Amino acid sequence: MLFRPRRLRKTAALRSLVRETILRPDDLVAPLFAIPGKNKKKEIISMPGQYQMSVEEIAKEVKSLWGLGVKSIILFGIPDKKDSIGSRSWAEDGIIQNTIKAVKDIIPEMIVITDICLCEYTDHGHCGVIKDGYVNNDATVELLVRQAISHAAAGADIVAPSDMMDGRVRAIRNALDMESYADIAILAYSAKYASAFYGPFRDAAGSAPIFGDRKSYQMDPANSREAIKEVLLDINEGADMVIVKPALSYLDIIKTVKEITNLPVGAYNVSGEYSMIKAAARLGWLDEQNTMMESLISIKRAGADIILTYFAKDAAKILGE
Ligand code: PBG
Repeated sequence: MLFRPRRLRKTAALRSLVRETILRPDDLVAPLFAIPGKNKKKEIISMPGQYQMSVEEIAKEVKSLWGLGVKSIILFGIPDKKDSIGSRSWAEDGIIQNTIKAVKDIIPEMIVITDICLCEYTDHGHCGVIKDGYVNNDATVELLVRQAISHAAAGADIVAPSDMMDGRVRAIRNALDMESYADIAILAYSAKYASAFYGPFRDAAGSAPIFGDRKSYQMDPANSREAIKEVLLDINEGADMVIVKPALSYLDIIKTVKEITNLPVGAYNVSGEYSMIKAAARLGWLDEQNTMMESLISIKRAGADIILTYFAKDAAKILGE
């Protein structure tokens, strides 16, 4: 007798009968970039198909995502002005605060996640305040708390700290609870690596650091046990969900994290992972749809319950066909 695993691959119906992993539009979170102004929609050169949008354009986009079954978005803001402490990040009339309100006006059920970090708001592009040439942890945490509270006040459902400062999850949880935002959840970017795959995002958000790099706060790509340490700390501090970021070069980390927690695990399929596929497809070197779907299913197969991806809309279209 010969073993014949091919028996179960013979037809599309058989393959779907034994398929282990199913991707759903509900798994996807669409990142959106908000800019000040009116009726603005500018394509991001290094991320074809992604746009910086003013409020009304974001509202349109949100409607179309909702229609395709994508029920969550994560918002990034490009402020009207930047300063050394990122003070526009907690302004009541700030870019994110206004955008949250507009989204909630259009589709109240849309899950609005906001990125908590200072890098888009500081004139030096670092994720925190600088003291003696170094990002100061505790002074930064105080400002992140302000930012998180102001997003909650504007109507965000989930705040997602992506700064990698120590102790920020606990500080944000305590402050949310004190200000009677006990229902606002924290999606912690717990294992966030200092990755070159963020390159296109930094163009999109105008957030590249003007000196140095982020290696003194984001994790070393060589480490996996440290990811466990970070994840357990964030869970202990009150995170409701955790994220591994980037996704594709870190599938082993997603798998490990899934094994050590019963919290939902998110994975961020980052800008560089998106742009590589887009670029190769443009050159005719890769089939865009198939590479996109294969990447997403591999992230889910590794253990991600939630996938933050610039492909959310395109993938949801295919899933709905
Ligand atoms: C920080 C933040 C970054 C990303 C998400 N949140 C950039 C960074 O750490 O430099 C990257 C996302 C991507 O590359 O798609 N606010």
